[in-house]
Amino acid sequence: KEFCFIETRTEGPVAFIELNRPEVLNALNRGMVAEILGAMEDFDRAEDVRAIVLSGKGRCFAAGADIDEMAAAESIDMELLNQFTDWDRLAWIKKPIIGAVHGFALGGAFELALCCDLLFSAEDAEFGFPEVLLGVMPGAGGTVRLTKLAGKTKAMEWLFTGKRISAKEAREFGIVNQVFARETLMEETARYARELAKMPPLSVRFIKESVLKAIDASIYEGMQFERKNFSLLFSSEDQKEGMKAFIEKRKAQFKGR
Ligand code: HXC
Repeated sequence: KEFCFIETRTEGPVAFIELNRPEVLNALNRGMVAEILGAMEDFDRAEDVRAIVLSGKGRCFAAGADIDEMAAAESIDMELLNQFTDWDRLAWIKKPIIGAVHGFALGGAFELALCCDLLFSAEDAEFGFPEVLLGVMPGAGGTVRLTKLAGKTKAMEWLFTGKRISAKEAREFGIVNQVFARETLMEETARYARELAKMPPLSVRFIKESVLKAIDASIYEGMQFERKNFSLLFSSEDQKEGMKAFIEKRKAQFKGR
């Protein structure tokens, strides 16, 4: 498929989506967000794809939503655009999404990074919500996801001032899983994605669903949900194969069924 603002490819079971407007530091216009979602949904349905890697071309992951596109807007324009339905669709992607961030991940781009299931970053990564400096605030889940992840204390501090968060600090606060040298970030991310792709896909799928559910649900509700998914896996061929392989002391061959 031809895209204007992103580039996609697959390498075996791993799909890659690269933000590709390097001349404006991959500023996310609404067309780009729609393309990201289109690609994600295609990969989510593609039987051979087991993991999706999201990264940015050029100097950085992305410097946020496209300010030129928003500058003249009025509230009612923003409301009628209904642009956040695309972001909502992101939450329904079932396959694991791994973000790989180098350089800036600001504003909407930080929000996009926070939507990933796993986040790897380069040592030079700088996260932040500079919206306050533009007289606005995050609108695609930033105040919510950052607060749930890092807690109220740091969220307020970072959001009030737009102060940037280094890779090291992001790691400390559980925002990123691992930090790599700039030169090895993509290689290490791809390596992780290939390992993840070897896991039984239905287990990974239901684990993702259950963990995301747990963020929002009470312990009771989360556990009910977990239990149903646990039971459901016992009608998969991979459960039979996984347990049989253990008993026969051999390596399991998973099929995703
Ligand atoms: C539009 C942008 C942009 C953006 C950079 N550019 N960020 N264009 N929207 N968010 C453009 C610049 O205008 C410039 O174009 C080119 O990219 C290179 O950027 P420079 O500023 O020259 O680079 P540098 O001096 O290195 O500074 C990098 C930077 C700075 C610190 C990241 O660009 C910056 O502060 N950008 C804005 C960051 C921001 O406020 N993001 C939040 C946006 S609001 P020209 O044509 O001059 O070369 C948001 C709300 C989300 O995200 C709401 C939900 C969707």
